[in-house]
Amino acid sequence: MNPATNEVVGTMPNGTEEDVLAAIDGAQLALEEWKGLSAEKRSIFLEKFYQQVVERKEEIARIITLENGKPLNEARGEVLYAASFIKWYAEEGKRVYGRTIPSKGAGQRIQVIKQPVGVVAAITPWNFPAAMITRKLAPALAAGCTFIVKPPKETPLTAAKLMECAEEAGIPSGVVNMVVTPNEAFSETVQNSNEVRKLTFTGSTEVGKLLMKQSAGLVKNISLELGGQAPLIVLDDADVETAVEGTIASKFRNAGQTCICANRLYVQSGIYDEFVSKLKGKIKELKVGNGLEEDVDIGPLINQKGCDKVVRHVEDAVEKGAEVVVGGQVNQNDAPFYEPTLILEAKENMLCMTEETFGPVVPVKKVESDEEAISLANETPFGLAAYYFTESISRGTRIAEALDYGIIGWNHGAPSAAQAPFGGMKQSGLGREGGAEGIEAFLETKYLSVGIK
Ligand code: SIN
Repeated sequence: MNPATNEVVGTMPNGTEEDVLAAIDGAQLALEEWKGLSAEKRSIFLEKFYQQVVERKEEIARIITLENGKPLNEARGEVLYAASFIKWYAEEGKRVYGRTIPSKGAGQRIQVIKQPVGVVAAITPWNFPAAMITRKLAPALAAGCTFIVKPPKETPLTAAKLMECAEEAGIPSGVVNMVVTPNEAFSETVQNSNEVRKLTFTGSTEVGKLLMKQSAGLVKNISLELGGQAPLIVLDDADVETAVEGTIASKFRNAGQTCICANRLYVQSGIYDEFVSKLKGKIKELKVGNGLEEDVDIGPLINQKGCDKVVRHVEDAVEKGAEVVVGGQVNQNDAPFYEPTLILEAKENMLCMTEETFGPVVPVKKVESDEEAISLANETPFGLAAYYFTESISRGTRIAEALDYGIIGWNHGAPSAAQAPFGGMKQSGLGREGGAEGIEAFLETKYLSVGIK
């Protein structure tokens, strides 16, 4: 469905358990040959895959906008972001090093080697229909694993385009597989399969916890990239323009529907009036509409359920004494558009300050000190991303060390990059994707003790 128009964009077969089992068989059959290739050869396949994605940028971006709703320019950016993981891991796969360790005795040699975990299953979300697949797929393939993806029901067409690119790149049959099927059918089948050695998931903390419980059965290797509840702190020595720009970049990407979007703002009293006034001006400039129109900044939310949550968060804030100074309304009656919204006088007991809103709403609370901001920022079971703005190296360094978050943006609202480790602490997940850490997630460490005469 196109969330901007409620029109059908395309259809997909609804896969069954047999389809998942067939994909596992295919991935298992292809594994020996794929992992037996040299890293250099796998890198050549990945490089061709990258070229395909980049060449088909416009076509894939249009599909993303049609089924996810994000503005076309953001969708183009996502295609390049998705491609950047393939490019980066095409290189990183050549740097999977082992170690030689000095032993205690003359008759022993100690080596450590790295090997692919085997068949990998991935469950990916709708908010980045392309990039959340390649962030898992590229390092898995580079490590020598074969791969089965279950894309979300909201955005399967983008996933299918990526599969076409992999096929065009000549990646052997069975190395990359996709099944569109309900979450439960997929996860139960892969969790109960001895062939599938790893499950990697991006999505809600609620589902992540269920998958973690399920994975206990066969002690499955599992990586989880779960929800966030990102604080954004603006201190009184911040550069106001940088702070406003960083807030807009972090908060309104994909209409506020990213796990690392700033969810709640803490602004120090000395800079509060100036920052709020400039932020208000910028928010008013944002244009809401169908993402296919080139000048649109904010597309629709993914569906009515997502929009209802945003409505509930704003109503709850108003009931508890907050003031809506910009937006605050559903923008169009027949599709899930929500206006970019600025809320002042936010309090810690409001839903928008304690839960991930996943929409274009900015609640702001005034704070007095660094200590107060840090303590409020850390007062959550989540720990994915946090942002702060200060020109002081000493203050900034102390804050970076004090925040219980896996990703920190200091004077920066857009930290994601293929070469950097992405992931959370506490209930925001397990493991990291991207960077050198991202390929480790698909490797086993094997210790080899050699007796010599
Ligand atoms: C996410 O929302 O989970 C991913 C965002 C990103 O990669 O920047």
